[in-house]
Amino acid sequence: MRCNLLLVPTALVAAQSTGINVFATNRFYVDPYFQKNVDDATAGVTDPATLANLGKMRQTSTAHWITKKSIINTTEPILKGAASQSPPPLVVFVVYNLPNRDCDADNSLGEFCCATKPDGSCDYLAEGDCSTGLSQYKNDFLDPIAAVVAKYADKVPMAFVLEPSSIPNLATNKGNPKCATSATEASYTKGIPMAVDALAAAAPKASIYIDAAHGGWLGWEANAQAYATLFSTLQVTAKVRGLATNMGNFQPLGVPCPASAFDDSMHNYCGSTGGVCCEDPCALLPQFSSGNNEYNYIQALTKEIKRAIPYWDPHYIIDTSRNGITDERSSCASWCNVRGAGLGKTPSSNNLLPNLVDALFYLKTPGESDGCTETLPDGSTCHEYDKTCGDPDAIGSQPGEPKAPVSGTFWNFYAVSLAKNAQFVAQSNKTAQLATQPGPILVAHKGSFGGSAHLAMTHQH
Ligand SMILES: *[C@@H]1O[C@H](CO)[C@@H](O)[C@H](O)[C@H]1NC(C)=O
Ligand SMILES: *[C@@H]1O[C@H](CO)[C@@H](O)[C@H](O)[C@H]1NC(C)=O
Repeated sequence: MRCNLLLVPTALVAAQSTGINVFATNRFYVDPYFQKNVDDATAGVTDPATLANLGKMRQTSTAHWITKKSIINTTEPILKGAASQSPPPLVVFVVYNLPNRDCDADNSLGEFCCATKPDGSCDYLAEGDCSTGLSQYKNDFLDPIAAVVAKYADKVPMAFVLEPSSIPNLATNKGNPKCATSATEASYTKGIPMAVDALAAAAPKASIYIDAAHGGWLGWEANAQAYATLFSTLQVTAKVRGLATNMGNFQPLGVPCPASAFDDSMHNYCGSTGGVCCEDPCALLPQFSSGNNEYNYIQALTKEIKRAIPYWDPHYIIDTSRNGITDERSSCASWCNVRGAGLGKTPSSNNLLPNLVDALFYLKTPGESDGCTETLPDGSTCHEYDKTCGDPDAIGSQPGEPKAPVSGTFWNFYAVSLAKNAQFVAQSNKTAQLATQPGPILVAHKGSFGGSAHLAMTHQH
């Protein structure tokens, strides 16, 4: 497999790594609106351990999601708040609003469309070049964000995480006709470079990361390869520091296997050597995936990225907002409001693969719903219902449990539950259990992201 690399005249191509690790050189901004939501959720809690965890949760930095036009105006108060501190802390934004957004699920459909149905919703099956949707994305979304960002670019350190699920969906979910059209492909493959250009021009010192799903999705060599190949066509590496993984998902962080484990497939290494890095709560190794934990996933993904883009050294941020507990799901395809999940390692640049990983961070705002149950808490029908939010692992599927609000809504019940089960520091340390027979077949599965108000300040009650 090395032969691919030999084709590249390495002497002529210096490794390219964009910028410095802004997570290592700055404090992190804590969102007062998130704090207020956590405080509201705390009222009435009496269990001392849960209270202590909620106290820690409210001091934790979370990313700020910009998911629709009407909340672009929440960007400036955050940057202004950060600029007023000395020194100004790092602010992390997630930008999520491509035309034909979220082509493989139903719960976080966006507001820009490549083509529109008579009822105003996106016609995901229409072919085309998405030029109208893309110009709306640029003019009505990216440019206004860039204008605000530019005002603070010299004062406030920033990181941007772009467009969850989009490139992973194009890479592996073309079996879904909504992801397979020329229009959706044009939207994602042209929209991401557009976003990179706009944000890099507005904030040249900011670090930009692009979503790369998680080990339970792209951990298979073929899937990682498809992602890397598609990513290489975007031609964005001169302005992109790296990739973000596990966004909104529940995959374990785990412990990295040594680099030598990736010379052959991981299941061979774990079958013969084993050890704590082979812990595999989702039984992925017997299915020939290297994504048993996120540290291993990014090592496997890096191998594919280096084949496709030899001169680029990607750096990673890993979402640890909800992966403190690693074996709470009956199916690792579950991504919606998972029962028993807990907050994971608190945001930090300290990690076990410092040459690859810039930081562990709370990218998904913990406490915000992944999607509604079929019936909303007020008893009405949810029109954005995705059936995954009714599966047995999702809160709201069992009698006596509260119903889930629409995605992006801060949900006190879930916030308290995540705090109760928090594992801020501890690594899992179970005996490696490498199943000998194949586990359940996992289909490539997505994370989950709200199309609704992701910022606490705009949440509905
Ligand atoms: C942002 O604009 C919306 C109306 O589009 C308004 O309801 C909201 O209060 C504004 N938020 C801020 C922080 O200005
Ligand atoms: C896991 O537990 C074993 C035995 O109790 C111990 O020797 C080892 O250091 C632990 N590893 C981690 C990463 O905590």
